[in-house]
Amino acid sequence: MKYFDTHCHLNSPQLYPKIEEILQNCKEKGIDLLLVVGYDYQTSLLAAEIAKKYPFCYAAIGIHPTELNSLVGIDEDQFYTLLNHPKVVALGEIGLDYYWVKDIDERNKQKEWFIKQIEIANRYNKPIIIHSRDAAQDTYEILKHHRPMKGGVMHCYSCSSEMLPLFLELGLFIGLDGPVTFLNAANPKEVARSVPLDRLLVETDSPYLAPHPYRGKENTPLNLPLIIEAIAKIKEINAEKICECTYSNGKKLFHV
Ligand code: NI
Repeated sequence: MKYFDTHCHLNSPQLYPKIEEILQNCKEKGIDLLLVVGYDYQTSLLAAEIAKKYPFCYAAIGIHPTELNSLVGIDEDQFYTLLNHPKVVALGEIGLDYYWVKDIDERNKQKEWFIKQIEIANRYNKPIIIHSRDAAQDTYEILKHHRPMKGGVMHCYSCSSEMLPLFLELGLFIGLDGPVTFLNAANPKEVARSVPLDRLLVETDSPYLAPHPYRGKENTPLNLPLIIEAIAKIKEINAEKICECTYSNGKKLFHV
């Protein structure tokens, strides 16, 4: 089987020091496509470096809603020209995070930057990777009125299963991660059941969100098969089929 981890942070301080070893193990396990996602200025630069260096790694660059200050003093236009590189395939992760940010002005700033980065993605003809935490309604409203022209993925989908049809209607892919394996997690399992196979992506979000039975430990892309197995069980479809579909969905969305 061939696997595509469409969201990992090999650019994080936890995983980057071990990147050679991780990639070697990935190769042996059939995880032969990885999308390394930036979340602030520095990790975006590093994601792009990784993608340029390793043939089966691709990069996304973007500023996460809780990291907006990382662009202070940076030439923004210059930063986004990284999107011209053929191995920088998406803008992300971007979006709204109301879990960590309660202040209204700060939330408004998040919205402003979310819209701005969608527009930049459209200008560069790239899909987006969306982070949305405790902000389902506002995320939906923004996406509805500022459509990502090249599509995108609701990364680690954590909005309700009731809202799922709305995001699907916008043409978005749905990313599922470690939580779908957690024993007590009803919502991600419900989402896994409902999401059509042709809109599903699998992600590890490593080093975060390690799947069961490694919950709470450091995660790596090597755990991707555990996520696929959990989804296969829920959907009552064999794991090979899930693997195949998510692999080709990822290739389709990110043009790799
Ligand atoms: Ni992430």
